[in-house]
Amino acid sequence: MGMILEHVTKELNGRKVLNDISAVFEEGHVYGLRGYNGSGKTMLLRVLCGLMYPTEGRVLYDGKELGRDIEFPESVGLLIENPAFIGNLSAAKNLELILSLNPKSCTEERIEHALSSVGLAEAGKLRYSRFSLGMKQRLGIAAAIMEEPRLLILDEPTNALDEDGIKMAADLIRDMKSPDRIIIVASHEKEFLNSVADEVIEMREGRIQTDEK
Ligand SMILES: Nc1ncnc2c1ncn2[C@@H]1O[C@H](COP(=O)(O)OP(=O)(O)O)[C@@H](O)[C@H]1O
Ligand SMILES: [Mg+2]
Repeated sequence: MGMILEHVTKELNGRKVLNDISAVFEEGHVYGLRGYNGSGKTMLLRVLCGLMYPTEGRVLYDGKELGRDIEFPESVGLLIENPAFIGNLSAAKNLELILSLNPKSCTEERIEHALSSVGLAEAGKLRYSRFSLGMKQRLGIAAAIMEEPRLLILDEPTNALDEDGIKMAADLIRDMKSPDRIIIVASHEKEFLNSVADEVIEMREGRIQTDEK
């Protein structure tokens, strides 16, 4: 069980943006990925959720190889860079559209709960195009968590968030921690990561280095 990376290397334009990464991510843990801009955090998250496959090495999720046995982890919630929502639909409609891919989980309660858990209870009817950057980020977090995924991946969740928003994101991550869930959070903000992660993994030039925090 869990997620295993074996000697994962990703080359883009002849450059190794990920360089021989081996790591294990276990259920019940919150992992932090820390590193400067360009150190490879987003690339690693892409490989973990099957948005991109390694050039060498492999990624196993519950023993199944991504890109060979399965395309991507079945139950994954994802916030990566700019979330794409539809501008002329309300926040609630945008979430409904995502949930409608899985009709069983598409209920009004779930949408309301997701919106209120990120402080957008009052903004559900507002068009996405009217949202501030911080509100957009909150909606992106809501979309990532709303289906209670077994694998939750949050890339720079504090981007554009105010102080209350950052506290909300930290509380939410701690609430989502569960024995059957892997949570991986990338951030260049050391303090935030230390406050949510059980283990912080440092990335540098496409390589990782595991430290106790
Ligand atoms: N589409 C792309 N093609 C080639 N190289 C890329 C592409 N996107 C990002 N990179 C490079 O990959 C490296 C890692 O980027 P990234 O994972 O986004 O870093 P981080 O998320 O840690 O800031 C950077 O050197 C970046 O320039
Ligand atoms: Mg990044």
